[in-house]
Amino acid sequence: MTDAPHASHSTHDAAADDRNRDILIYVNGELVHRDEAKVSVYDSGFMLGDGMWEGMRLYNGQWAFFDEHMDRFFASCKAVSLDPGLTREGVLEALNRTAEANGMTSDAHCRLMVTRGVKDKPFQHPALSRSGPTVVIIAEHSKPAESLQARGIRLATVPQVRGLPNSQDPKFNSHSKLNCVIACLQAEAAGADEALMLDPHGFVNTTNACNFFVVRKGEVWTSTGDYCMNGVTRAKVIALCRANGIPVFEKNFSLYEAYGADEAFLTGTFGAQTPVASIDGKPIGDGDRPVTARIRALYKALVAEVTGG
Ligand SMILES: Cc1ncc(COP(=O)(O)O)c(C=O)c1O
Repeated sequence: MTDAPHASHSTHDAAADDRNRDILIYVNGELVHRDEAKVSVYDSGFMLGDGMWEGMRLYNGQWAFFDEHMDRFFASCKAVSLDPGLTREGVLEALNRTAEANGMTSDAHCRLMVTRGVKDKPFQHPALSRSGPTVVIIAEHSKPAESLQARGIRLATVPQVRGLPNSQDPKFNSHSKLNCVIACLQAEAAGADEALMLDPHGFVNTTNACNFFVVRKGEVWTSTGDYCMNGVTRAKVIALCRANGIPVFEKNFSLYEAYGADEAFLTGTFGAQTPVASIDGKPIGDGDRPVTARIRALYKALVAEVTGG
């Protein structure tokens, strides 16, 4: 595929794969063709965005960092009194059944979604959700688009900010991502691919779908961790830097320091580490990204180690 110079990209761009037209989706214990996979219009997730999800990657038949994803998922469910109706082992079994039914062992990505379930009436009160959770797993054949590694993502800073934890804690991987969706729309309107979001104090925080890092004079910086998703990939990158003598800091920094970075990259389960080409039209560094490349190689080796690849 060749792209026009200003075609839009996202960190979730994947190589086209026709097999995804016929995947089987897990819906409450059944595996059904994607055209037949449906949830009720009364579902709490559809009506209110009342649910939690996790995105995970399959490598060598193993869901990478499954325990870390489950720590986040079960903590989120507990915080919003959502009983997923499954143990960790039950989740793993459902994920593996879905992968197996689709003949997937590597280069697959899943979205596990659990909502408060079908409501009796079309209103907000959680007590109206009485029939138990809705559990859906979409697993797709998915290889992140390699072209993004050279091209990088164009970010725009946006008016939409990350929220305080006492409104809707940005650590919830909730079905409602409206805050992030609005940010992404604003970035798109500004001619960028994705949004760079600031925290309530004006410090650089994160993007609408990934965590954000800069590299300055060999040091790796990311936000304090307040106001952003507690990304599994973020945590792995920080740990890898520490273990490999790369100075890494979780700290407040401003756009002044982001614009002047030598390198910048995004982290997320889907694309691992994705370089940033520009912020608000200002190119980041000179296009040489040795630290990002090193971290990417370390992360790849870690994934191979934990998945027996
Ligand atoms: C807003 C946001 N930031 C960052 C991430 C990346 O998190 P992870 O590395 O756990 O995939 C996600 C993924 O769910 C996200 O939604």
